[in-house]
Amino acid sequence: MKKKSNHFSGQIGFVLAAAGSAVGVGNLWRFPYLAAKDGGGLFLIVYLALVLTFGFTLLVSDIAIGRRTKKSAIGAYTEMHPKWKFLGILTFLVPVLIMTYYAVIGGWITRYAVVYLTGSAEAAAGDNYFSAFISSPVSPVVYALLFMGVTAVIVYKGVQGGIEAVSKWMMPVLLVLVVVVALYSLTIRHTDESGQLRTGLQGFLYYLTPHVEGLTVSRFLQILLDAMSQLFFSLSVSMGIMITYGSYVRPEVNLNKAVNQIELFDTGVALFAGAMIVPAVFVFSGTEGMSAGPSLMFVSLPKVFAAMGKAGVFVGILFFVTAIFATLTSCISVLESIVANCMEIFHTGRKKTVHVLAAIYLGASAVIALGYSAFYFEAELPNGSTGQLLDIMDYVSNSVLMPLIALLSTILIGWVKTPEFVIEEMERGGRAFHRKKVYVIMIRYIAPVMMLILFLQSTGILQ
Ligand code: PHE
Repeated sequence: MKKKSNHFSGQIGFVLAAAGSAVGVGNLWRFPYLAAKDGGGLFLIVYLALVLTFGFTLLVSDIAIGRRTKKSAIGAYTEMHPKWKFLGILTFLVPVLIMTYYAVIGGWITRYAVVYLTGSAEAAAGDNYFSAFISSPVSPVVYALLFMGVTAVIVYKGVQGGIEAVSKWMMPVLLVLVVVVALYSLTIRHTDESGQLRTGLQGFLYYLTPHVEGLTVSRFLQILLDAMSQLFFSLSVSMGIMITYGSYVRPEVNLNKAVNQIELFDTGVALFAGAMIVPAVFVFSGTEGMSAGPSLMFVSLPKVFAAMGKAGVFVGILFFVTAIFATLTSCISVLESIVANCMEIFHTGRKKTVHVLAAIYLGASAVIALGYSAFYFEAELPNGSTGQLLDIMDYVSNSVLMPLIALLSTILIGWVKTPEFVIEEMERGGRAFHRKKVYVIMIRYIAPVMMLILFLQSTGILQ
């Protein structure tokens, strides 16, 4: 009876929970931006090629390690090789850091959903609306605490009763929503002051066409690095989350199929998000209107929605609800992997562990949410950008730790432990591991080199 609650019910439950983790703000505010910036279809081709090789390799490794050891990052790496416990600890640090700010972003999105639902969409399109909101001292904190609280309640309910139950309906609904808004994006048209007419279809073609004019080797390498860092952030690999989720998968589930489905879901949502955002921004602001991150979601898009007129309010609601689902299911996975590691280290039960961690992270979220008001400062980051508290957490976890962890784990699996450790798990019960050769070559030779370059580049060592 006790055992049952620590497993996903089956393949679908696992795939939707893992897709819930993978599909997050990265799909919505970074993928479309990169596609528009990095040559449209050219980026899409590079990204797809990487999904099937590099992303596949990292995802297979994490999930197989989780299921084989039935442990989370710290326990799993220690079991693989006691001397490599430090890698488990490094991996554990990523969700520990991400958790401090993920609910803050979730809170911003929730606030926008509320604004659109209560009929103040017009205000949200104002020039300083977003900066005024995040630098106010109360409201961002309240929304962050709300988001963190909801996350904690779901994780408290356990693997099947909480995580799986929520993902099972949110993810299919999210998929329908992005498809609907993407289709709507194709139908819009707008004539600007200079009398130029732009249509959603033109924007869509701009998004799909591989733009290779003036492509140089160094530009291509940049596109490759952009696609690579986006990909492993997007798949939630190298942060222990997929190890934890893998540890909840029953032995009879076919991991080969599950991995394909998770990749398909995550990439599909990214592609549709691009098809919904790139044409919409193109129609109302031209090709210069694309920005990345919070400014795309909270500044550019509200202006686009406002320009759509009445329909824009409705589209805005659909968009921000989609974003809540994407962020909440990711936030849950971050907390779950911390909870799972702590339960193993401290031998505590789920309820007590969630209580303690919820208290800690409610506090941390409040502090980070105040990073634009009470705790505002400007820090110079090694990669040349300036940032506040949230950006520092993001920089350390995503730009420094994740590529380093990916690099070390490919060395551990490829050379210290040998790929058989993962292959045996993929072939358990006589299943066919079709891309075995690709896996071995990637994990031993290509992925370590790629990760080293990415690490040097994102830490600013290699310009
Ligand atoms: N994979 C998520 C995305 O694409 C990001 C994420 C980060 C999820 C950290 C969980 C934890 O946005």
